[in-house]
Amino acid sequence: MIVNLLNNSSKLNSTPIWFMRQAGRYLPEYKKIRQKTNTFLDLCFDSKLAAEVSLQPIIRFDFDAIIFFSDILVIPHALNQTVSFIDGVGPKLSPITSPDDLNLPTKTMFLNKLRSCFDTLKLIKKKKNDQKNLIGFCGSPLTVLTYMIEGQTSKNHLKTKQLIRNNKKNIDKLIEILVDYSITYLDEQIKAGAEIIQLFESWASIVNQTDFDKYVIDPNKEIVQRIKKIHPEIPIICFPRNNPEKLSDFIKNVDCDVLSVDLKISEEVKSFCSKRNIAIQGNLDPKILMRGGPLLSQKINETLMQFKKNKHIFNLSHGILPETPISHVEKTIKQIRQHDKTRISS
Ligand code: CP3
Repeated sequence: MIVNLLNNSSKLNSTPIWFMRQAGRYLPEYKKIRQKTNTFLDLCFDSKLAAEVSLQPIIRFDFDAIIFFSDILVIPHALNQTVSFIDGVGPKLSPITSPDDLNLPTKTMFLNKLRSCFDTLKLIKKKKNDQKNLIGFCGSPLTVLTYMIEGQTSKNHLKTKQLIRNNKKNIDKLIEILVDYSITYLDEQIKAGAEIIQLFESWASIVNQTDFDKYVIDPNKEIVQRIKKIHPEIPIICFPRNNPEKLSDFIKNVDCDVLSVDLKISEEVKSFCSKRNIAIQGNLDPKILMRGGPLLSQKINETLMQFKKNKHIFNLSHGILPETPISHVEKTIKQIRQHDKTRISS
């Protein structure tokens, strides 16, 4: 299997492009399918519709990769925590503080609850062509745990921070459970057809230095190591979001193939990645993409220039916003492809 997303990111070729949350509410065809199911989770667990939605951005924009449609919170759901999504509000979970609050399933029961996700991957694999890589994913343990403890999206993560301060034993155990079940989940995604894996550590910024080592670096490192041991050919993208000061520690310790970055990245990290042949994914601000205009063109160029010495996969610094006009996405892709052509011919 050829991993085009990485091969093409070498500077001899074109810059591959895909966007986080590329299947979503900014697309009218997504909204149409979304109306067919009662809840967002129903859509995630309807493999036929989920496969259709995953392919929508590829059909419309010819992106270079397909991320299968699901959510990071299907893991707490499969661990028997109550999870729902309320339209216009976001996720709601029955909050936990201890591993005893979970009625832990066996691995077989856990995988059975996620069966439709694997069916989605299989359906996409059947329909896609070889040029487009299929990305599987899960949330990194600390990020998933914040939702399990807070019960919703939180700005300050007080409950999680309090538990980390006062009950490390429970946190350690919960992180260990998430590492273990995430590996089982990712292994099964790869068996079902995922060709690349992305780990979303969206809340890498909520812990101090010592806890960062323990709860961000170590769990991501262990997942990467163990997946690579079973599937050495599968590239892994890590996304430790919103923590530019710690990127250097992260990338020196976690053996991933691609570092997905949000807004800031130091010259040191860029040159480390270049030396180690680690690709960089990113990092156009989704707000700039949404606003468009001359600033968008300028930032697209700056992004391309910023990573010209690196293997680069063009992406956003976070998920695309629902209000983003489709014409801005079209314009962005056109400008990147034009830039590649000019570079190759000059
Ligand atoms: O296209 C893709 O990227 C694949 C699908 C995908 C979704 N969520 C679909 C989704 C992926 C990879 C995710 C990851 C995810 N989910 C993360 C990590 C990335 C990040 O955004 O930091 C997180 C933290 C979640 C949890 C989550 N899911 C929240 C907080 C919300 C509500 C916020 C919102 O945007 O509404 C969701 C809902 C969600 N996940 C939607 C989509 C398309 C929107 C809900 C809908 O369409 O009804």
